[in-house]
Amino acid sequence: MSSIDSLAVNLISELVTYFYQHYIFATVLFLITYWILVCLLKPRNLPPGPINIPFFGGSWILTSNPYNDFERLWKKYGNLVSVYVGNKLMIYIFSKRLIKEVYISRGDDFQARVTEDLPFEDVLFHQPYGEAWKKSKKVIVQLHKKFIMNNIENEALKSLEDLSWELQQTQSKLVNPKNLLRQFHTQIIFSLYFNERKPIDDTELKEVGSLMSQVYTATSVHYNSWVLFVPFSSLIFRRALNKPSVVVSKLRRHYEVRYEERLSRIEGKNPSEASDIMEALMIELGDLTKIQIIDTMIILSIDAIHSQTIALQTCLLYLAYYPKLQGEIHDLLDKSTDNQPPNLTHRQDLVLIDALYLETLRTDDILSESSSHRPIKDTTLEGYNIPKNAILVPVSSSIHFDDGIYPNSEKFDPKRFIKDGKLSFKRDEYLSFGIGPRSCTGEQFSRTVVFLTIARLLHQFRISLSMKDYFNEKQLKTTEYFDNSLLDVSLVFSPRR
Ligand code: HEM
Repeated sequence: MSSIDSLAVNLISELVTYFYQHYIFATVLFLITYWILVCLLKPRNLPPGPINIPFFGGSWILTSNPYNDFERLWKKYGNLVSVYVGNKLMIYIFSKRLIKEVYISRGDDFQARVTEDLPFEDVLFHQPYGEAWKKSKKVIVQLHKKFIMNNIENEALKSLEDLSWELQQTQSKLVNPKNLLRQFHTQIIFSLYFNERKPIDDTELKEVGSLMSQVYTATSVHYNSWVLFVPFSSLIFRRALNKPSVVVSKLRRHYEVRYEERLSRIEGKNPSEASDIMEALMIELGDLTKIQIIDTMIILSIDAIHSQTIALQTCLLYLAYYPKLQGEIHDLLDKSTDNQPPNLTHRQDLVLIDALYLETLRTDDILSESSSHRPIKDTTLEGYNIPKNAILVPVSSSIHFDDGIYPNSEKFDPKRFIKDGKLSFKRDEYLSFGIGPRSCTGEQFSRTVVFLTIARLLHQFRISLSMKDYFNEKQLKTTEYFDNSLLDVSLVFSPRR
């Protein structure tokens, strides 16, 4: 070893010994250096926002109530606010004009999806905005129309027979219908996607439904959780952070079996001969890998099972909470259906049910965080720099609770969406299903299933809430963004006939 090398080794070992003996000083020095580096490396001219502290960034400002947080950020910093959540740069957008600019007029610049925390392979919907994405979205939309929308009424009505029967068995006792609703939606998805009609209490349906919800809960650890701020969190919390991948690999096994079955029978078939959506996807997008097809099918199922369950249960909760509104729907049903079970032909007389769903999602935006996008390259907005890695979040409550757009916006009033007896709302003023080219592919599916379910259930039952006294209207309205705790409330389904 040369004398210079041994000098360096001595110096390093002296330093290590010194810091070991003065570890408090070493920690403070490390934090200060880290903070200086973060400040130096931070992009310049970002939208205004709270100051950053080491590790936590600006997230110290966030509490467990995002609605209140957003309100404060908006009042303090204006329409465009940047907050570092750990090392993630979030940019919250609080104005209808800017949300339209990002999602519609300059849509091409801001259409990248935020996917790195999701345990899926290269799913069609996660492709960056561009020609490949446009082609696959077109195919999916066409297949959705052909295999799903054409059969949805039939399949949903069959499943509703099962759901009604199960609810009758509860004999007007308090029940939490969450699991039953999840099995109901999984049953519809298996019928529509795989041509497999299973009993509502089938073991596989139960397992798949439960795994779909677990993916959601497991991935939530990646969002805004204190876990992320702990140094070396990916090592320390490896099991928790890996949970989404574990759940998804269990789910994949169920979809893989169906993939293999179809693989043996698609040889030589053309797309018009496909007998279900998975088969059609395998034939039409033959260059996709097995895992891409499977993950695309899983993504298409998650919202149709998990989000639908939450959305429907929230509607039922509102109906129980507002018995007068429920009574109005009962009267409309009795008048328009002549005591026969309702179907889609009655929809124009029952606009109030569709309006109820829109109003439920307006006040309780269960999926708004899915509308987060990224710019496809470094760009600017309102004169501020928006780096490529920033996550843009359109804050739907800034539109949904704007009294100029929705007068008396705090009031739960489905009739605000009815004009001259017809459903009426402006696309750019309603964000629950997203807006612009990347908006929700399943919106019509979702609205049709909810319509049929509420119509059928109210035809047959009166829904009530015996826990009513235990929470107030304000709590009901803020069934909070990330927290669906009110969905643990039980309901009573009493037969009407
Ligand atoms: C409770 C019901 C649902 C709500 C509130 C909802 C909401 C949303 C939102 C907010 C987005 C993101 C839009 C954006 O990025 O700008 C989205 C995307 C999407 N949704 Fe839904 N969704 C629901 C049900 C469904 C269902 C039932 C399906 C499938 C059958 C579905 C399939 C999709 C797909 C494939 C995308 C990605 C579209 C793309 O990237 O081009 N959703 N949804």
